[in-house]
Parts: sequence; structure tokens; C-alpha cells
Amino acid sequence: MGLASPDDAAVWRLSDDKAIVVTTDFFTPVVDTPYEYGSIAAANSLSDVYAMGGQPFMALNVAALPDHLPVEISSEIMRGGAEKAREAGVVIAGGHTVKDKEPKFGLVVIGFVDPRKMLSKGGLKVGDVLVLTKPLGGGVTTTALKQERAEEQHIKEAIEWMSRLNKTAGQLAVEFELRGGTDITGFGFLGHGMEMAQASGVCLAIENTKIPLLSGARGYAEKGIFPGGAFDNKGHFGENVRFDAEVDEPAQMLLFDPQTSGGLLLGVPPEKLMEFESRAKELGQPVWVIGEVQAGQGIVVRL
Ligand code: CO
Ligand code: CO
Repeated sequence: MGLASPDDAAVWRLSDDKAIVVTTDFFTPVVDTPYEYGSIAAANSLSDVYAMGGQPFMALNVAALPDHLPVEISSEIMRGGAEKAREAGVVIAGGHTVKDKEPKFGLVVIGFVDPRKMLSKGGLKVGDVLVLTKPLGGGVTTTALKQERAEEQHIKEAIEWMSRLNKTAGQLAVEFELRGGTDITGFGFLGHGMEMAQASGVCLAIENTKIPLLSGARGYAEKGIFPGGAFDNKGHFGENVRFDAEVDEPAQMLLFDPQTSGGLLLGVPPEKLMEFESRAKELGQPVWVIGEVQAGQGIVVRL
């Protein structure tokens, strides 16, 4: 894929039916438990391969750790990453660690994709139904944790979703020969949605009441506990989003909230939707229909 398109991973064609997919991502801790941090970082790094309809097979650790960090903590981070990789069927074949004041961890991931079945941000078609595979609200919830204002149960729920692989969601997309897809991460729902709208030359019509949220998200949003990235995303992508007057400020900001290891946003042709939903249920993969693809440009958010 060329550098001009903002896709989730680099893709290099090896033959008509095989291409290599390469991606990397790493970040500072989003939770205070080292094992979960490692697990979330790994799930997040693997996600870009799934977001392209690929299958990861090998990875390398990328870590920056403080000098004084107890070895129990660094090994728990690595163990979280390794066990998540194993769950994905991925071998961690090595890696590299440097010293740094603030911990950083993630993976370099290599996978394969059939280029004829690849998902991309530019693959949405007018009429496609938009489906999301994880709830939003990870950014506000982890920010509340950092500010020591989060409820235990909300943290637990956020960790469960962030650690969840997008493997089954990606498998579903390939099985139903979908073409338009991406994963929701740092640019938030509207940022990544906007990348898709632009790359596909379409307008996304979103129904706000259908957007799934983590249990604590709305409450934290009403208190204004957003990470700085949410405001950056609004500044960056807000111009081409049209909100209905009924969609209030906290609801708008939740759509700009940066996600860590968020779900996939997929375009499903309407004639495939019923079968897609029943197959998702069979596989234990939650899916939420949150809008549709229309002719035009940008994103409209209705109540
Ligand atoms: Co991505
Ligand atoms: Co990424």
C-alpha cells in the first residue's frame, strides 16, 4: 500500500494471494497493573494486522524501562504481552529494551494477508451498515484512573475490553468478504471514522444512541475527565463533523475520546448484515450497528 493512504499497517505483496503485513505500536502505561498493561499493549499492537484482515504470526517486544524498575514489574509486563501474543497464536521471537524514565511497551508485529481479501479505510461503499466491535469510553475511564477518580468496577470493565483481541472481529470481516475496516485507537471514533470517510469518498451517518459505551464513561464525561488527546482530536477532525443539536457536549466529546486497543469499525453490505450478526453471536463476538454509509462527505451524528 502506498504511503498516501492512512492505513493501519504496511503491506507488501509477495504474490497474487499473499502479502506481508507489518506494524508497530508502543505506549506508556494506561493502567497500574503491569500484567494488564503488557496484555493491553500487545492486543493493541496486534490489532492493526486484524484491522486489515490479516493474520499475525510473529512479533518482537519493544520496551523502554526505568533503571530502578523492580524486575518483578518488568517481567510481569513482558509476561502479559507474551500470554496475549500466545492467545493470538503469535510467537514473540525477541525484541529490544532501552532505558527510559517512563515505561513504554509494545510489539512489532508481522502477519500475512490475502491482498484480494484485504480490508482498508478506503473500502466503504454507500449503503454499507457501520458496525463497531467494542464500546467507547476507554480514554475517559483510564484518565479517571490516573486522577484517582475512577470506580474499581469501571476500571475492570475497561481492562477487559482493552485486553480483548480483535482476532474474531477480523476473522468475521474476512469471512464475510468485507472491504472497509479500521481499528479505533488514538484518534477516537470520529478521527478514525473521518479517515475512512475521506479515503472512501463517502459520508458516515452515525446514530449516537446506538453507540456502545463503557458503564462509567458517560459519568466521567459529564465531569469533563477527558485526556488531552480528546481535545486534540476535536480540533483536528471536528470541522467536518456535523452534530444534531440534541447531541450534547459530553456525548460529542465521547466520540472524540482516544481509545487504547479499541474495536474494529467495519462496513457491512446490508444484504449480509443478518447473517453477519448471527455468525458474530455464534463466535461470541459482540457487534453494534451504529450507522450507515451515505453519499457525501464528512460525518453526521444524529441523536
Ligand atoms: Co489502526
Ligand atoms: Co496503530
